[in-house]
Amino acid sequence: MARITAGVTTSHVPAIGAALDLGKTEQEYWKPVFAGYEWTRRWIAEDANKPDVVVLVYNDHASAFDMNLIPTFAIGCAESFQPADEGWGPRPVPIVENDADFAWHLAQCCILDEFDITIINKMDVDHGLTVPLSLMFGQPKAWPCKIVPLAVNVVTYPPPSGNRCWMLGEAIARAVESYPQDLKVQVWGTGGMSHQLQGPRAGLINAAWDQKFLDDLTADPERLRRIPHIEYLRETGSEGIEMVMWLIMRGALGPKVKELHRHYHVPASNTAVGHIVLEKCS
Ligand code: DHB
Ligand code: FE
Repeated sequence: MARITAGVTTSHVPAIGAALDLGKTEQEYWKPVFAGYEWTRRWIAEDANKPDVVVLVYNDHASAFDMNLIPTFAIGCAESFQPADEGWGPRPVPIVENDADFAWHLAQCCILDEFDITIINKMDVDHGLTVPLSLMFGQPKAWPCKIVPLAVNVVTYPPPSGNRCWMLGEAIARAVESYPQDLKVQVWGTGGMSHQLQGPRAGLINAAWDQKFLDDLTADPERLRRIPHIEYLRETGSEGIEMVMWLIMRGALGPKVKELHRHYHVPASNTAVGHIVLEKCS
């Protein structure tokens, strides 16, 4: 049977992708950002921890979706997805290879479980998806596992509530458990942490709020389910709402988790970088 083994969260700052692609990771500014991922790179390379499939929860930034079409939740079911051209050419990263049978199974189970989700076959994937892969796996010729893209609208109001994201995570966990093939599945929740990219509060970072959010992913996830949108906006800036995606990962892992690794660094570009690895405990 397929089983969820671990959850990963990480910010997806596009400048991190550029730093990697342009060979700047050893520069003074970037070194401490990347240092916090070294533990995870070693961990995920070990046979016992290497996923067969990652359900990669991320948000598109008007690369695949725009005001013509805004799915709240969309699951990629095609065989593969190309890196998006976000204005300066696609990132030089491998294409994303899906486990399409597994993705269709997740779509079918979630929809029949009364969790309507959009099925998408044609889309390019932007920094929201490719930067977390680069942070976790470096610069390989091919990504070392299959990836199911799960896109969440956090760009256009109204995004889904944290609680709804949590419930989607629970539905994904039920779907994984009913897949007959023996697969090690990780769920990644990406984006965040506090950041605001525009307006008078551009550059806002709230380290105390972020740290409490990281603590409570393990200590009090029930509190996180109830954080309203207005609190994300006030306390973490207009783009801090990306953190609701972390709650899909957390809902999927179930009540008992163990924190294996944590990294928090300010700043990277305009963003507070947060990263956590959680092991699912049965
Ligand atoms: C930045 C962060 C993001 O999450 C994003 O999507 C774009 C830019 C930044 O910090 O610059
Ligand atoms: Fe973003």
